[in-house]
Amino acid sequence: MSKQYKKIVVGQVGIGKWGKNLLRNFYSLPNVAVKYACDSDSVRLNEFVRSFPEIKFVTDYESLIQDQELEAVIIATPAPDHYKVAKRCLEAGKHIFVEKPITLDVFQAEELLALAKSVNKKIMVGHLLLYHPAISKLKQLIGQGELGKICYVYTQRLNLGRIRKTENALWSLAPHDISIILHLLDKFPKSVSALGSSFVQKGIEDVAFLNVRFAEGEIGHVHVSWLDPTKTRRTIVVGSKKMAIFDEISHGGTLTIIDKGVENISDFKNVSELSKLRSGGDEVIKLSQDEPLSLECQHFIDSVREGKEPLSNGENALAVLKILAAADRSLKDGGKHELF
Ligand SMILES: NC(=O)c1ccc[n+]([C@@H]2O[C@H](COP(=O)([O-])OP(=O)(O)OC[C@H]3O[C@@H](n4cnc5c(N)ncnc54)[C@H](O)[C@@H]3O)[C@@H](O)[C@H]2O)c1
Repeated sequence: MSKQYKKIVVGQVGIGKWGKNLLRNFYSLPNVAVKYACDSDSVRLNEFVRSFPEIKFVTDYESLIQDQELEAVIIATPAPDHYKVAKRCLEAGKHIFVEKPITLDVFQAEELLALAKSVNKKIMVGHLLLYHPAISKLKQLIGQGELGKICYVYTQRLNLGRIRKTENALWSLAPHDISIILHLLDKFPKSVSALGSSFVQKGIEDVAFLNVRFAEGEIGHVHVSWLDPTKTRRTIVVGSKKMAIFDEISHGGTLTIIDKGVENISDFKNVSELSKLRSGGDEVIKLSQDEPLSLECQHFIDSVREGKEPLSNGENALAVLKILAAADRSLKDGGKHELF
């Protein structure tokens, strides 16, 4: 539900495969005026001119950030460009929405966070799944103790394509999964390890298996690949009372709570007794049909107008980045454990 306040004037840098979805969503919000769209590829820009007659199309973002009327910039360039563009926008006094991952380097992200603080501007990062109604509901149910104590969470983000040429599958796909695991468990892990391999392009891993371990014994596992026969996007949460499956693909996203478990799970005696296994029914949770991307875009606008920290703020993005960076080091080092 959009709130009533003065329109926020925004510009967007990067109108590629994903950026066009952001542009469509910000453009359709009633309390937003998209004044500029920038892409260094002028042929690409020309594809949008007719659909958005009020927007000024430019090829150099320096020209748009000089505009004093512009309050915020949406950055959807490829990940290696995030730092440079984000830094310039913050220096020019703009709030920024930057796509995931915030940067490819922890120090650069820390610099952006410090810069945003010094100019009193917001950073929000596109951890889209945190705005999915299924994840919001799952977080609520976990908070209410519905699933009991969380034992482990695992995710799968698999497909054939889209193969990236700069970042590996871990950097491209896992930010979503790591952000989900941190959000649901509401804590930072004590260690991470990852295995991965490249088959399509030398040195760019197509598949990665990442493990995180938390201080109280919970485990998070992420499997990402763009070299897989199935399109799978799932999050499974196993709790001491109940279990949950979030299937992002089925019917636009379904959340099922499964009443299965082991009675007295912390009782280490007699675990082999079948009578201790509980297999109740499944409950498919009714979810709002709001588009997660639209909710995410509105959340950024509300955060700027109301001066509130976004859910996927700079700190949150930095936590995700630290895990990604450590997992990448582990992956390059044959799966060595990285401690935090
Ligand atoms: N949240 C999600 O679910 C999701 C999904 C896909 C991609 N992404 C993220 O979105 C970002 C963009 O991905 P994409 O798939 O759209 O990439 P893309 O390569 O299709 O598009 C990037 C666009 O940025 C333009 N560009 C590059 N450098 C520029 C610069 N300095 N100034 C202006 N324009 C510039 C390119 O010409 C291109 O049109 C990445 O960070 C990616 O990780 C997020």
